[in-house]
Amino acid sequence: MADQEDVIELAKRRGFFFGANGAYGGVAGFYTYGPNGAAVKDNLESAWRDRFTVRQGNMEIEAPTIMPEAVFEASGHLDGFDDMLVECPECGASHRADHLIEDNTDVEEAESIPIPEVEELIREHDLRCPSCDAPLSGEPVEEFNLMFETSIGPGTGQPGYMRPETAQGIFVEFPRLKEYARNRLPFGVTQIGPAYRNEISPRKGIVRVREFTQAELETFIDPEEDEPPLHEVEDVEVTLYPAGEQEDEDGEAYTTTVGEAVDEGVIGSDWVGYYLGVAQEWYQRVGVDMDRFRFRQHLPGELAHYAADCWDAESEVGGDWIEITGFAYRSDYDLSKHAEHSGESFTVFKQYDEPKTVERATVDPDMATLGPEFGGDAGAVADALGTLAERDPDAFDADEVEVEVDGETYAVDSDVANFSVEEVTENGEHVTPHVVEPSFGVDRIVYTLIEHAYRTDEVDGEARTYLALDPEMAATDAAVFPLVSNDDRLLDLADEVTADLRSAGLSVEYDDSGSIGRRYRRQDEVGTPFCVTVDRDGLEGDGPDTVTVRERDSARQVRVPVDGVADEIAALLDPEDDRAFEALAAAYEEIETGVETETA
Ligand code: GAP
Repeated sequence: MADQEDVIELAKRRGFFFGANGAYGGVAGFYTYGPNGAAVKDNLESAWRDRFTVRQGNMEIEAPTIMPEAVFEASGHLDGFDDMLVECPECGASHRADHLIEDNTDVEEAESIPIPEVEELIREHDLRCPSCDAPLSGEPVEEFNLMFETSIGPGTGQPGYMRPETAQGIFVEFPRLKEYARNRLPFGVTQIGPAYRNEISPRKGIVRVREFTQAELETFIDPEEDEPPLHEVEDVEVTLYPAGEQEDEDGEAYTTTVGEAVDEGVIGSDWVGYYLGVAQEWYQRVGVDMDRFRFRQHLPGELAHYAADCWDAESEVGGDWIEITGFAYRSDYDLSKHAEHSGESFTVFKQYDEPKTVERATVDPDMATLGPEFGGDAGAVADALGTLAERDPDAFDADEVEVEVDGETYAVDSDVANFSVEEVTENGEHVTPHVVEPSFGVDRIVYTLIEHAYRTDEVDGEARTYLALDPEMAATDAAVFPLVSNDDRLLDLADEVTADLRSAGLSVEYDDSGSIGRRYRRQDEVGTPFCVTVDRDGLEGDGPDTVTVRERDSARQVRVPVDGVADEIAALLDPEDDRAFEALAAAYEEIETGVETETA
């Protein structure tokens, strides 16, 4: 298994990612993607868009990253989006208390443990500051809100926040988005873009950062009627680590199929099960090592404030399991909250096949009584009575009912509310959709792909490191090397091959510097699937000019006519075409080279 430090060092050296703002000393938690990292990330986002937007028939939007405070009051992030902070009394360093516990004890998922117990665990295990070794026992653990606050406009401005998840940009636009979906459920909206969290202790390169990219899909469903096409994925095998197994001392993750897990109620929601199946196949496609991958259910205390059930896709990197995607059943939490706080309608009108006669609870409050009693609040109290009648008609059986307006409780005599139940004929109803959300962390998946692809071996007696990236994810499709730089014919041919490959739609690196061995090593470390070398041998025969094509993982080389090389490589890279390098080796002359020992 690759050492995480080696992976991060390679990432920096080969232009995948590195700490940002280095010229000014850098700030923890912010990373710049170099040219190779940006290309891999872009490929990953395209593969995500292909699977979760285009092939699912969803709509993609792009919302602002700064949103006004009211959005996060409604969403619950202002009150509930906290991590546990403990500060060192000696050096002042800030640490995530739950991480300290997980790193230094056998306790797992400490995030779900209440603060007093966390303080007790710090005391019991005599946990110390990782920066200066001072004891943290007895130090208070506090909730720390992870949102970055900003001020919108000049002067004191209006408070705003950098969005901590892209999802809110979709939820707040629901009243308009439902129109684009012609007011029909179910429909899905996706968004790929930055999210910001003021992490207490960013770490592990791009795994925990303060600015990262999410790819989120919000599926709006009618919980009474809409079902996912579960049959499409019911036979997909998944490794599950349910909450029950985590709580059991001998519990462990096990492999089953999506269909069985849903039938047995291990996965409580068909929709979540469906997305686990779709995602499992997608992770495989992009090159996650499925032996280092599992779906873990959230423990009850770990659930986010909006989630009714949640599973995480986790990959194993550097010996630890990290969450790369969250699959949450968010119920009607978000849309109801935004409706409540904004006063807008966040419902969809569901037309019945036939009109229905139903009993409808209503109130007709006596305003002559409410007015003098509640003054300016009387109208709001009357509205609240109407809402209560719809939600809980039995409440009016009591002599007095209580309603809440702006955090204040008002008691109203039931007679004054004039409560009644009438029979009405209705053509449909307003439904607040439920939301099912797969939320992918793009940076963590990029990191996983790089670490899972990291290999070392020996070629022609020399040690090498290479990235066995899936060709669809690799930053460069092919590299072209003219063997020498003082032969015009050879250089012209290298230019011609480069142009042909680019015309075939491939991304090509042209490299004429250093020894050929060094050029191969550079491309191996970047994960370029094929290298094309133009040498004099290929120009000297009686037949057509040839070049050598070298495959990254096996380091095998084959001599291929120049005329066909672009088509051959394009076919090898085409995911729809199952031709393998073997076919090329069988069709043309293979040159003796090769891998001697595989060491990782
Ligand atoms: N809308 C739901 C949501 O935001 P989440 O589990 O908090 O759920 C989704 O985040 C994904 O975003 C995670 O699975 C993870 O991959 C990624 N993520 C969260 N915080 C991150 C951070 N500080 N750095 C990098 N990725 C992060």
